[in-house]
Amino acid sequence: MRIFKIATIVAFFFLALVPFAARRASVLPAAQASEKAAVATANLEDFIGSDSCSECHTNQAAHYKMTAHRKTIHAGAAADKQGCEACHGGAKKHVDFYLTAKNLIKAGQDAEAQALYADEAKGKEAKMRSFKDLSPAQSTALCLQCHEGAQGKSEERFNYRRSEHARHGVACVDCHSSHSPKQAEFLLRENEPEGCYKCHADQKASFAKPFHHKVPEGGMKCSDCHNQHGSFQQKQLRGWVGGEVGCVKCHADKAGPFVYEHAPVKVEGCQACHTPHGSTNPRMLKRNEVRLLCLECHSNTPGIPEEGSGLGPPTPSFHNLSAARFQNCTVCHVAIHGSNTHPAFYKP
Ligand code: HEC
Ligand code: HEC
Ligand code: HEC
Ligand code: HEC
Ligand code: HEC
Ligand code: HEC
Ligand code: HEC
Ligand code: HEC
Ligand code: HEC
Ligand code: HEC
Repeated sequence: MRIFKIATIVAFFFLALVPFAARRASVLPAAQASEKAAVATANLEDFIGSDSCSECHTNQAAHYKMTAHRKTIHAGAAADKQGCEACHGGAKKHVDFYLTAKNLIKAGQDAEAQALYADEAKGKEAKMRSFKDLSPAQSTALCLQCHEGAQGKSEERFNYRRSEHARHGVACVDCHSSHSPKQAEFLLRENEPEGCYKCHADQKASFAKPFHHKVPEGGMKCSDCHNQHGSFQQKQLRGWVGGEVGCVKCHADKAGPFVYEHAPVKVEGCQACHTPHGSTNPRMLKRNEVRLLCLECHSNTPGIPEEGSGLGPPTPSFHNLSAARFQNCTVCHVAIHGSNTHPAFYKP
């Protein structure tokens, strides 16, 4: 009995501190403070579990059972980190309120029910957390509680807060839908690439060009090259081994190492000569004729290019560039990405 009393006093003491904690939080920069508020440790007594929700929220509850989030419900999970309440907050007062109202109506006591609904203070207490009321940063902070590296591919969302998406107010729930995803896998609002095209019309136009990676055809995805959850590379590109841009994952044969490297492949990377999305030029080259691309770095006037200019040696004098025979450079320089046998890339 005494222990119980002491526990009660201690509990009240901590409850009394809540307003102070709240006030201290308000000293933080506004955005950070509101993010904190969204994920603040909740009063565990407000959490009652997800069983009762299905009585009134039939659709959400039925769908929820089929999503990966059902896995949050297990013995040993903290009360505020499982089921519906992990996202919507403690539901005790909410359920009390609406169950009472429902029972009053069932019993024909409509006036009492009306009075209950009219009680603004109770109504406010009974309000669940709705994502409609959260800022992008707040809702993202909520999801990141569980998804910032704790499980699975751990670095996948490590950098979300610094991603272009987060910095431009794109939240997890802009791409994912907990209750009505179009694609069940990964709870996506829209499949790729359509979901991305909604906001990235320029890229849609690039992929519509005649020479493109097969993204529109479903042969690959934007997320094969980009990490939509943020990365440590520019343009949210996925980096593989040693931070090398991802092209190499699928085109290892182009990256070498070769005995004779073609310098720009190693220095500027694939994009010195190719556009990554799509192009009107064959092989997705940056120029419509191979020749014009080469001549940007290999002038046909003699002279030694400056060190560090990125330019290569001029074409030898026997290259008569007005003769058709010499115009198609890669007919002779076939191993244009690098060679193991020939310094001028005559053979692989
Ligand atoms: C007895 C019926 C009942 C039960 C049980 C119930 N709710 Fe509700 N809930 C409602 C009603 C009615 C509303 C609509 C309130 C409104 O529109 O203002 C609602 C609204 C909500 C909202 C939206 C809040 C908003 O501001 O838009 C969420 C989220 C929610 N409930 C979650 C839950 C969860 C989670 C549970 C189970 C722990 C639960 N509810 C159990 C009746 C119920
Ligand atoms: C992973 C987080 C998450 C979980 C878990 C979750 N919800 Fe939601 N809920 C959301 C989001 C986000 C929305 C906003 C609509 C959307 O994006 O689909 C939402 C919307 C709702 C709404 C509609 C009112 C509104 O605010 O738009 C209700 C009602 C609701 N949820 C009830 C539930 C119930 C009941 C459960 C458990 C069976 C549950 N939710 C589990 C995230 C969650
Ligand atoms: C309480 C912890 C928790 C919270 C909060 C949470 N999730 Fe999850 N989420 C999980 C767990 C656990 C899984 C299942 C992981 C697995 O299958 O290995 C999961 C799975 C997912 C998946 C993958 C679904 C699939 O089909 O593989 C997506 C997408 C996702 N969550 C998005 C979100 C979003 C968006 C939010 C915020 C609205 C959110 N989660 C909030 C714990 C959480
Ligand atoms: C710009 C759109 C977009 C945003 C924003 C976004 N996601 Fe995703 N997410 C996706 C796509 C697309 C996939 C599926 C990727 C695939 O097919 O491999 C995915 C996959 C996932 C998965 C399952 C696979 C995995 O990586 O473990 C989880 C979990 C997930 N997202 C959680 C989140 C969370 C949490 C946030 C916010 C911090 C978030 N996502 C923000 C588009 C997005
Ligand atoms: C084959 C790999 C690859 C695929 C697939 C891909 N991207 Fe990219 N994306 C890149 C590279 C590389 C860059 C960097 C271009 C640069 O620095 O000039 C980039 C740049 C971007 C940019 C920055 C602006 C720009 O165009 O330079 C956006 C936005 C973008 N991609 C979105 C998308 C979307 C949306 C999809 C799917 C519809 C997609 N990407 C598919 C490789 C890819
Ligand atoms: C809700 C709108 C929205 C959706 C959906 C969306 N994006 Fe974005 N994305 C943006 C905004 C806003 C930016 C930052 C401004 C910009 O670069 O256009 C951005 C930036 C990017 C960048 C970085 C560009 C840079 O210059 O660094 C890439 C890459 C990207 N998005 C890829 C994707 C992919 C892949 C998807 C689909 C899985 C996607 N986005 C879905 C809004 C969106
Ligand atoms: C996920 C695998 C994958 C990644 C990553 C990838 N590619 Fe590709 N790429 C392909 C496939 C598959 C093809 C074959 C043509 C097709 O079906 O789209 C291709 C074709 C090409 C072509 C030839 C197109 C033609 O018209 O013959 C070029 C050039 C190219 N890729 C450059 C790049 C560059 C540059 C990058 C990095 C920005 C890159 N690829 C990243 C899979 C990939
Ligand atoms: C110095 C310019 C240059 C650079 C840098 C470059 N390429 Fe190429 N690439 C070309 C040219 C030119 C062609 C067309 C060859 C032809 O006409 O036969 C080509 C063709 C291709 C092709 C399609 C033809 C084939 O052989 O399969 C792929 C795929 C490709 N490149 C990928 C890459 C990747 C990946 C990188 C980066 C590791 C890269 N390229 C860097 C100039 C370049
Ligand atoms: C972005 C600039 C750039 C482009 C574009 C480019 N190159 Fe190069 N190339 C270089 C540089 C730099 C070197 C190395 C010079 C050195 O090692 O001293 C080089 C080396 C070479 C060599 C070997 C020279 C030697 O050392 O014997 C040949 C042959 C060559 N390039 C042909 C081409 C052809 C053909 C094209 C067009 C398909 C092309 N290059 C496009 C920059 C470029
Ligand atoms: C008919 C075959 C042929 C064509 C077409 C051709 N070349 Fe060459 N190129 C050669 C030969 C042969 C060499 C000398 C190789 C050697 O030194 O062993 C060479 C050497 C080079 C070198 C190296 C110069 C040096 O100082 O090491 C460059 C750069 C070069 N070519 C660029 C080009 C460019 C750019 C084009 C297209 C405008 C082109 N070539 C078209 C046959 C050709």
